[in-house]
Parts: sequence; C-alpha cells; structure tokens
Amino acid sequence: MMAPPPAIRLEGVGLDFGAAPLFRDLDLCFGAGIMTVLLGASGVGKTSLLRMLGGLVMPDYGRVAAADGQPLAGRVAWMGQQDLLLPWATVMDNVMLGARLRGDRADRGRAGRLLDCVGLSSRAAALPGTLSGGMRQRVALARVLYEDRPVVLMDEPFSALDSVTRARMQDLAGRMLAGRTVVLITHDPLEACRLADRMLLMSGHPARLDAMGVPAGAVPRAVDDPGVLAAQSVLLRRMMQ
Ligand SMILES: Nc1ncnc2c1ncn2[C@@H]1O[C@H](COP(=O)(O)OP(=O)(O)OP(=O)(O)O)[C@@H](O)[C@H]1O
Ligand SMILES: [Mg+2]
Repeated sequence: MMAPPPAIRLEGVGLDFGAAPLFRDLDLCFGAGIMTVLLGASGVGKTSLLRMLGGLVMPDYGRVAAADGQPLAGRVAWMGQQDLLLPWATVMDNVMLGARLRGDRADRGRAGRLLDCVGLSSRAAALPGTLSGGMRQRVALARVLYEDRPVVLMDEPFSALDSVTRARMQDLAGRMLAGRTVVLITHDPLEACRLADRMLLMSGHPARLDAMGVPAGAVPRAVDDPGVLAAQSVLLRRMMQ
C-alpha cells in the first residue's frame, strides 16, 4: 500500500545560476495527489523548477519541502527531459534499474507488463542504442511507472512521440499516476488539457506562475472532449501573448 502522497511547498525560493534571476521569492504549493501541469516558453525555467522539486538543484535561498514534514528523498520518481537510459543495459534492465541500484529484488513480471503497456514487449532484450527516440522515451516512461512512487516528476515525457502513440501514453500515465502528486512539464496545450488537475503557465524573468482554467472531468480526458478542445485553444492563445 502506497503512503499518502504529500503536497510539495516552495517557500520564498530564489534561484539565478549566476545570471538574471529565474525565481525570486517564489511561494508555491503543488497539491497532494493531483497532476499539476507546467507550461511556459523554452528557457523560462520549467526544468529548473522541477529539478528543485526533485532535490537535484538547491535553491539559492528559501525552502522546498514536503508539506507532511517528512523528507522527500526516496519518495520521488523522476523522468527527465533526456531519457538517461544506460546504453549497456537491456531495455528490461533499464526499466528495473531503480530496483537494482537500491539492491531490491527486481520484478521481471511487472517490468514485462509495463513494457507491454508501452508497446515494447518485443524489444525487452534490445539495447537502447538500437531504439528510436520515441521508443527510448517509452522505456523511460515504463521505468518511471515501475518505480511506483507517491511523487512523480516528468519533464516533457511524451515530446518524442507521434500523435497517436502520444495520446495512448497520456492515457496510460493519466490512469497509472492517478492519486499521486505529479508535476508534468509540456509544451503541448492538448496534453495539458487532457492531463491537468491544475495548470500553471510560467512566464518572465524572474518567473511568475499563473493558474489557467482546467476543463471539467476526470484525468485522462478524451482527445475529442469538447471542453478539452475549447480549453486547448484558449490556452494556446494565452501562450502566444
Ligand atoms: N545548471 C545550469 N547552469 C547554468 N544555467 C542554467 C543551468 N540550468 C539551467 N540554466 C539556465 O536557466 C534557464 C532556464 O533553463 P530551464 O532548463 O529551466 O528552461 P526550460 O523552461 O526547461 O526550457 P525548455 O522548454 O527549453 O526545456 C536557461 O537560461 C538556462 O540556460
Ligand atoms: Mg526544460
């Protein structure tokens, strides 16, 4: 039984990498057990924000912490903007990599079922270098789902996929990650409108985050849901401003 997923709070956070500040005195809460989708122009700081949530980058000042007071370490699964597959390990071993690194017993049955879900069961014994970019991204998706963590951070997880595969993987992720604290970055307004319980649009330096309207209905919403399509065009217009 999974522990209840925590909310994650940023309190008075600043970050600048030695240049113009990306974040200044940022207060924000990512809700417990919901999918928050982050959008915003390239370079605005989305990955940097996600890396702070995952503990991969420390803020220059302020605090990032789980609202339940427990450490975040060990509760987070990460799917980065690069797939970070080990080139010398098979697809199957890459899916189970976390278990191996922790010295846990790897569950080949579960890894195999996840590879089936992402349409790659026939490639379980292949090396990542022999796969297409979209296939590699699906291996990384299977790996993050295998981790089964209460907090899941995903940076443009479906960016390399064709439209149909992308829609299928959105369905899979929407179903399998329901009830967890998920933060997902995307540039795709349709994806945002299908998957978001909450939607935040980042803009400017230092960045501000504006909450956007989210369509009605449970995640994952249908690709042809009129509410989704209407929200998508409103969002795209707003992103173009
Ligand atoms: N480790 C780092 N050292 C120095 N600068 C960095 C570092 N990481 C990010 N930056 C800078 O911070 C800014 C925001 O980068 P970030 O990767 O967070 O953007 P992003 O919103 O994720 O963009 P994209 O949509 O292109 O992925 C960029 O100007 C980038 O050069
Ligand atoms: Mg990025």
